[in-house]
Order: sequence, then structure tokens, then C-alpha cells
Amino acid sequence: MKRLLLTVSILALSTPGSIPALDNGLARTPPMGWNSWNKFGCNVSEALIKEAADAVVSSGMKDAGYQYVVIDDCWQVKRDDSGNIIADSDRFPGGIKAVADYVHSKGLKFGIYSDAGTGTCQNRPGSRGYEFQDARQYAAWGVDYLKYDWCNHGTQNSEASYSIMRDALAKSGRPIVFSLCEWGSTKPWLWAKDVGNLWRSTGDISDLWDAGGKKDDGLGVVQILDLLDGTESYAGPGHWNDPDMLEVGNGGMTTTEYRAHFSMWAILAAPLMAGNDLHSMSSDIHDILTNKEVIAVDQDPMGKQGHRAKRSSDGAEVWSKQMSDGGRAVALLNRGASETKITVDWTDLGYPEHLNATVRDLWQHKNLDSAKGSFSASVPSHGVVMVLIHPK
Ligand code: GLA
Repeated sequence: MKRLLLTVSILALSTPGSIPALDNGLARTPPMGWNSWNKFGCNVSEALIKEAADAVVSSGMKDAGYQYVVIDDCWQVKRDDSGNIIADSDRFPGGIKAVADYVHSKGLKFGIYSDAGTGTCQNRPGSRGYEFQDARQYAAWGVDYLKYDWCNHGTQNSEASYSIMRDALAKSGRPIVFSLCEWGSTKPWLWAKDVGNLWRSTGDISDLWDAGGKKDDGLGVVQILDLLDGTESYAGPGHWNDPDMLEVGNGGMTTTEYRAHFSMWAILAAPLMAGNDLHSMSSDIHDILTNKEVIAVDQDPMGKQGHRAKRSSDGAEVWSKQMSDGGRAVALLNRGASETKITVDWTDLGYPEHLNATVRDLWQHKNLDSAKGSFSASVPSHGVVMVLIHPK
């Protein structure tokens, strides 16, 4: 009998379904916050992060839902003789725990960055071989969010490498959102649901509307949209595709383009990690980042990632996202060079043609006339009209 039980339990352990799943209960809606990388690169410091936390509160972004303040690459310089990771003491004179405590004192959560390989993308020490030690350290500091990059990984297997840190975070005893950053290189949407709360699905974003396929320019907003379309079935509460952090307010796009960038990230149920200088933002940029009606689309509890319902050769596109109350968030997106009229037909949304529906414009904050069968609007070049449609 004993032998039988042993055989049964060994079989149970070796069945494919027994791979331990991520079970941290976090990120039930796409994470929102601020990250240092897009604007400040390696120029991070205790002062910068504390000021960012102050600004998240004073700008109203906290009230709008932004929660995580994340230090990206370059906070770390070496390991000590016992393998403990050491922060840059010039830039973080009070140590990382003091920064975490400050962020927490503002009612926010604190995030940090490391890499699954031997070094980060800026060649600071990575976590390869130190996963459990690092996770214990993060928990002791009060880390709530880990972004985990994929530079210097040599011949490592991505799923296996990320799973080690998932297990280390689980053993650390602290709930920590796990953000995978392997740039979509091994199709993480196929495996990362059981490993992390979000995974980068694409390479690094540039502060550009259209990178035009020039490799050195990285990916513009429109390139990322094309790459994300088709990944919608893999996202949901606790596990999200990540089209990279926001460039809203960093200067490389027009206000119209930034409004479209933000709208499309909301339609994609993307993590909303602001990446601009919160102290110097204009009122236009502030109004984009804190548009609660657009944020509510992103944060809808059903967690459906939207998709492109149709496109035309002149750059007119219709994207839609199913909402938990049966409504549809719709973005009429104009990628073309001149203003154009774009129409969404109810049949593009899975609604019957005869349906009467209310239409609310989420940028004008205004109810429009109700519509039957379709809705049309004139959309500026590189802009969106974003509406919520509800069956009457
Ligand atoms: C990679 C990531 C970026 C950023 C940098 C930091 O390129 O994709 O988001 O974290 O590394 O070096």
C-alpha cells in the first residue's frame, strides 16, 4: 500500500499540470505607477524617487489610481563578499529601505529592478544564482514590485529562469508583483501566465509615434500596436501583456499623439506606468495621465484586452474592448496623415445592427446622441476619438 501511494504521488508530481502556478493574488487589474527609466535612465537617486512619490500624490495621479513607484536599472553597484546586493551609496545614501519607507509613507507601493541574467542591461549585477538571496533582501526592504530584465542571459532558458525568481519571491513571504521583461523574445504570452503578473510582449518603446521600421529608433506606438494585436486571448486578471511603459509627456510626440498612445494602452488593458518628469508636466499631459474615464477602461475588472476590429488602407482603424457591464470601449484611431471620418459598425463590436446604444466621449467627457447600427466621428491625424458604447 505504501509503495502504491508513493507511486501515485510521484506520478502526480510529474504530470504537466503539476507545474506550480503563480498564485500571489496580485495585479487583478493592470498595474499602474511610475518608473524612472524612460525619462531618467541611469540618473536615479534617492532624491529623484522621493520627489517622484511626492509628485504622484500632489499631481492627483495617486487619486487617479497610480500606485507603484519603481526604480529601474542602475540603483545597484556590486555584491559584497556574502553575495548581498549593494545599492549605489552616493545616489542612495540612506539605502533602499529608506526609499521604500518614504514611498510607503505616501500611501504608495515601491518597486525595484533586476535581471534574470548575470548582469542588467546597464551591466550592473544581475540576479542569476542569487535569486533567493535577492528576493529575501527585497522583502526585507519592503519591495512590492519587481521588474526583471533579460540582458546577459547567455544560454539560459527564459521560462525556467523566470520561474526561479517567481519561486524565490513566493518564498520571500512578501506579496511582490512580478513584472517579466524579456521583450517578447520567447513569446512569453504562451507561458508566462503561470510565472509573472505581466510580461513585456515587445521590445523597448521609443518616444515616437512611428519609428518607421528604423531599427535604431526602437518601436514607436504604432509598431507596438501592430505587434500586440492578436495577443488578446492571453491576458486577464493577474496576468497581462505589457506593451512597455508610457512615453506620455517625454517630448517626442504631439499632445494628440500622446492622447492616442494613452487611449490605446487603455484599450489594450496595458499596465499604465508613467515614465515622464512629473514635476514639469504641462496641464495637457496631466489631463491625459489622469483621465479617469480612460483609466476606468484600462482597469475594468473583467480584464479583457481589446483588439483591432477593422482597419483600412488609409490608416483608419477601429479598436474595441469588451467591458464587464456589457458595454464596449471603442477607439477610432487615425494613423493617416490627414483628418478623416471613421465609422464603427455595431457588427464590428459583436452587437446586432438594430441595437440602440448610448455613446459617451471619454476625452470630451460628454454624452453624445444615441446611435443605432453605427457611430462615426471625424478623427485628427495621429489621433483618436474614444467612446463608451452601451446598449439601451
Ligand atoms: C531594458 C528594458 C528597459 C529598461 C532597460 C534598463 O532595455 O527593456 O525597459 O529596463 O533595460 O537598462
